[in-house]
Amino acid sequence: MDVRMNERHIADLQDVTKVYGSGRNTVTALRGVNLRIDPGEFLAVVGPSGSGKSTLLHILGCMDVPTTGTVEIDGEPVPRENERKRTALRGEKIGFVFQAFHLLNELSVRENIELPRMFLRRTNGSRLLKPEELIAKVHMPVALLDRRPTEISGGERQRVAIARALANNPSMLLCDEPTGNLDSANSEAVMAIFDSLNRAGGTIVVVTHNPEVASHASRMVTLKDGQVVEAESP
Ligand SMILES: Nc1ncnc2c1ncn2[C@@H]1O[C@H](COP(=O)(O)OP(=O)(O)OP(=O)(O)O)[C@@H](O)[C@H]1O
Ligand SMILES: [Mg+2]
Repeated sequence: MDVRMNERHIADLQDVTKVYGSGRNTVTALRGVNLRIDPGEFLAVVGPSGSGKSTLLHILGCMDVPTTGTVEIDGEPVPRENERKRTALRGEKIGFVFQAFHLLNELSVRENIELPRMFLRRTNGSRLLKPEELIAKVHMPVALLDRRPTEISGGERQRVAIARALANNPSMLLCDEPTGNLDSANSEAVMAIFDSLNRAGGTIVVVTHNPEVASHASRMVTLKDGQVVEAESP
């Protein structure tokens, strides 16, 4: 077997530091984080408020860059200066799910799901999934595609947001408090989706305060004051 195969990670963060602001108003959000994520992992990131979880997720998602340190996504170095290249890398490799859904109410569910296509490189076209396939992946009926986000429940909205995040067939699905606005029944529905995606080989990173959600993961990383203080299998 090719030895390099073993070295291939979906994400590889080395000595990542993130400092916000300048002068007297600096906040150090991450201090020397090393993190590798393997294909097919389901990782939970936990830790107190302000410990750097969202910052870490934004860096993993190529939405932000570290102040120092290096990031590789799926074997490709994330460029610090070239924002256009970073956006392209994100469009190709990353799916992102927010706590507050971030759907556009004036568009149908179908249009919301199709939106990422506009930002993707044409060469990536073959990897794009159809709205019908995507809505099935999040355990919802095709009829829902013709409704608007305002005409479905909060739990359904989050499932649509997950479908949208999967539209580019991402290497890694990143979720920041995906169940933070959901009741326990809807949280369970979202977790069932993550479980089935992960069983199918998908790589998932979930930031959560909810121990029930974290218990679905195959590995847990705890952040405190911007440092990884604990990394374990739950
Ligand atoms: N854009 C920003 N500018 C300045 N400081 C920031 C910015 N974003 C985050 N911070 C600070 O960086 C630190 C880490 O923030 P981060 O949002 O990563 O924490 P978190 O673990 O996600 O917290 P929570 O659980 O409340 O969402 C905090 O002290 C926060 O105030
Ligand atoms: Mg956060």
